Amino acid sequence: MSDDSVRDELVVAAKRARENAYAPYSEFQVGAALRFADGTTVSAANVENASYGLALCAEAVAVALAMNDGHRGGLEAVAVIGSGSDPVTPCGRCRQMLFELADLGKTDPVVWCASDEEVVKTTLSELLPRAFGPGSLT
Ligand code: THU
Repeated sequence: MSDDSVRDELVVAAKRARENAYAPYSEFQVGAALRFADGTTVSAANVENASYGLALCAEAVAVALAMNDGHRGGLEAVAVIGSGSDPVTPCGRCRQMLFELADLGKTDPVVWCASDEEVVKTTLSELLPRAFGPGSLT
């Protein structure tokens, strides 16, 4: 599958996931979609809480769902879309969570950072160089 069609599919999946965002406090809705080597896609939205600091980012929820589905590596591409005008780049914690999952399969996923107006291509290693990961504990 071409890079462009994966991008389009993943951005659509992230956009669809964003519809389920629970973000009454920030009113900033985010959707994320993860594409795996086996062809599966796991998507999720952000989940906020009246105790504001407990908010869960869309990417973090997606990583947790994927790992609960049994995924351990094979992460090939990620799309994240916010409700603002600028493309959303994953926050620091999400970069770290994505790295853990990607590192299990030694991939460096493409990360599509999107808004409704624009999609920017980057990679996880560009977003999180010299990452701390499972190998750092040995
Ligand atoms: N958020 C995400 O879901 N992903 C990010 O990478 C950045 C921030 C969410 C957290 C919170 O619900 C809202 O966006 C505003 O920060």
